[in-house]
Amino acid sequence: MEQLWTNARIATMADDGLGLIDDGVVAAKDGRIVYAGPAGGAPAMAGTVQDCGGRLITPGLIDCHTHLVHGANRANEWAMRLAGASYEEIARAGGGIVSTMRATRGASEADLVASALPRLDALIAEGVTTIEIKSGYGLSTDDELKMLRAARALAGHRKIRVEPTFLGAHALPPEYKDDSDAYIDLVVGEMIPAAAPLATAVDAFCEGIGFSPAQCERVFAAAKAHGLKIKLHAEQLSALSGSALAARHGALSADHLEHATEDDVRAMAEAGTVAVLLPGAYYFMRETKLPPIDAMRRHGTRIALATDNNPGTSPTTSLLLMLNMAATLFRLTVVEALRGVTVNAAAALGLGAEIGTLENGKACDLAIWDVGDPAELVYRIGFNPLHQRIKDGQ
Ligand code: NIG
Ligand code: FE
Repeated sequence: MEQLWTNARIATMADDGLGLIDDGVVAAKDGRIVYAGPAGGAPAMAGTVQDCGGRLITPGLIDCHTHLVHGANRANEWAMRLAGASYEEIARAGGGIVSTMRATRGASEADLVASALPRLDALIAEGVTTIEIKSGYGLSTDDELKMLRAARALAGHRKIRVEPTFLGAHALPPEYKDDSDAYIDLVVGEMIPAAAPLATAVDAFCEGIGFSPAQCERVFAAAKAHGLKIKLHAEQLSALSGSALAARHGALSADHLEHATEDDVRAMAEAGTVAVLLPGAYYFMRETKLPPIDAMRRHGTRIALATDNNPGTSPTTSLLLMLNMAATLFRLTVVEALRGVTVNAAAALGLGAEIGTLENGKACDLAIWDVGDPAELVYRIGFNPLHQRIKDGQ
């Protein structure tokens, strides 16, 4: 099937900027882009033609870090935090990730799919065509596999690409209290081999309330032995140089990074490890330490943005809001913010050859916006100008 979108302003993301082309055309054949460029050079094609009326076309948005599948919510803990308790205090008192673990263990795979769908629909309504979804609230082999199956099942309910990530090393389940090394034995010896057919990557939470760099290194080794890519939650609450460790292991991304150092950021640039910034978590945690954005710019570390949708630190389902927060809170430019949810988010998932730009051969995933200037996508707060979303040409 051949399709043509004409009379559009297209942001291809194919150069170092937005790759803007006025009076642009996107052509697709069987769900793949065969042309994206000026109207003058468009191929003669039979098939359906859609006049975009001058609207802006970007690549479909990519949310490259989410915990979209989870049981219940933690509005009660938020109320406790507003009354003065800290996130770490709540976690150490058996709340936090472990309270979501209890709710997730109590939910069936079908329950998890049903509760995630409204959140997924909110992202889809903003033009998201690819989403990464982590496990990490099961913390037993069966419950982690249940989460991964639920994440994969979502792709059967909606037209969206789902990239499932195994995050068994997210928190210590109560059964392993005071023996985190024994839990890591389980993660590397049993969970990763069982999760390998269901996940594309393995993540871990490198933190005082999570796992040590040495434990994360064991997780990386097992992931690689099973042919899985690696990622890391690093430098969110303290500086352990997990991000540099991840880079040395060839990680796709290190995420959060508020406490990252110049050395961490340099190691990431050298390894091509993407810095995934999560302004929703920064905002919701009322963090004041900014990620080292200037150092990232100096060293050429690629920056992506994501919602980090989760019930504890980032209960948002708006990637557009993340664009605005990244600009207002982190001072990202319009170009950096928009590349962060397209081309660089694709790189953070290892899908740079497949999605993230409007270029020949890539999936025809488009977001068509009722805006003229791309800056409007970053500028608005709580307003969604999506006109149409196209996944694989449909
Ligand atoms: O990305 N940092 C660890 N994981 C999540 C929070 C999970 C939770 O509190 O439920 C995050 O912020
Ligand atoms: Fe996260």
